[in-house]
Amino acid sequence: MLKGKKILLGVTGSIAAYKSLLLIRLLVKEGAEVKVVMTPAAKDFVTPLSLATLAKHPVLLDLFEGDTWANHVELGRWADLMLIAPLSCNTLAKMAQGLCDNLLMATYLSAVCPVVVAPAMDEDMWKHPSTKANLERVQGYGNHVMPVEKGELASGLFGDGRMAEPEAILAYVRELLPQSVSKSLTEDGAQEWTSSGKKQDLAGKKALVTAGPTYEAIDPVRFIGNHSSGKMGLAIARELADRGALVDLVLGPTSLYADHPGIAVHRVTSAEEMYNACVSIFPGVNIAIMSAAVADFRPVAPAEEKIKKKDDILILELTKTKDILQALGQQKNGQILVGFALETTGERAYALDKLHKKNADLIVLNSLNDAGAGFGYDTNKVTIFDRSGGETVYAQKTKQQVAADIVDKVVNMLYA
Ligand code: CTP
Repeated sequence: MLKGKKILLGVTGSIAAYKSLLLIRLLVKEGAEVKVVMTPAAKDFVTPLSLATLAKHPVLLDLFEGDTWANHVELGRWADLMLIAPLSCNTLAKMAQGLCDNLLMATYLSAVCPVVVAPAMDEDMWKHPSTKANLERVQGYGNHVMPVEKGELASGLFGDGRMAEPEAILAYVRELLPQSVSKSLTEDGAQEWTSSGKKQDLAGKKALVTAGPTYEAIDPVRFIGNHSSGKMGLAIARELADRGALVDLVLGPTSLYADHPGIAVHRVTSAEEMYNACVSIFPGVNIAIMSAAVADFRPVAPAEEKIKKKDDILILELTKTKDILQALGQQKNGQILVGFALETTGERAYALDKLHKKNADLIVLNSLNDAGAGFGYDTNKVTIFDRSGGETVYAQKTKQQVAADIVDKVVNMLYA
């Protein structure tokens, strides 16, 4: 149910705009209050009158009406969720660039709530590299991007690009929104269970997770990186979100992606970018789990042009990157902070050293000496150390099960 939830629906110029009518009906039926803002191009596909009748609110179209200014800031703050469905290729490009030439864009840029977009376009447009880059960028800003569906397209062709069906969008919104509502349930100690079957013991909590490698530029085409796949961090983000937390996932370069409505992905490339994202998100979270394999060193001065192989030896001067875990450990103000240690020798001593040096609450140790543990595997074998001297050794498990063990430990500390 979405009773009492305020949803701002943005409709853009796409054939799929006819599905917005059904979407409004479904949202209103669930108890949501729906306001609609549309782009000028959307009017060619669906009428404001139909949208307004179903939403039971006038449709908002222009930044100015006569000499009255539409207060997009108020609108952006009114909503519990902004949903842009359908999202046209054109509005996607504007979102990627931060353009502000209509009321929908001004409202989007002012919104302080989660934003979900459901793209709709023809397959060739969908597959265009610029669309891909824009989508990555828009997702990197923390927006939730719903996958498109395969099927018959307006062009008559068959392929990817159909907007998700209104029922699927409703299910997505339902999963994303209850997290803020069920807060009081867990604070009372009561337990709520979702369709994922997981206890909602993190409802109302916010978490920051880092995952994947970082790439440190040597020149415009080369970098220093590592073999991290990001699988462990993604599993942790999913576990936290499945249990009701709202997760900000700061993700280094990886082909993996998160499509859980409770996870906002911030894509970064270098350690410096990951550091900046984490430092700004950290003050607002309850939990931070640093599972990224951050490069410890970066080239002092990346070359502006591609380095040519003139000499037999190339010497790169490297400098230390900022230690994100350590920086957050110094800023900690009530958050539970978890770090990872990946070691090849002297595992226990190094892990304990990290726990204290970086002021973490838990350190998850995985040793590259254990079979089935480490980069790229779907399994992992960990030991978790806490500050009171506790040490829990786990058997080899899937990364999703390991994520559940780590989150269990965090939850125990949170409510201790
Ligand atoms: N980490 C970080 N920022 C860095 C380096 C590491 O946040 N610049 C975090 C990792 O995400 C992980 C933990 O620190 O949670 C341990 O990383 P690791 O590279 O194993 O530790 P180091 O401090 O680099 O120690 P050493 O080089 O001695 O292994």
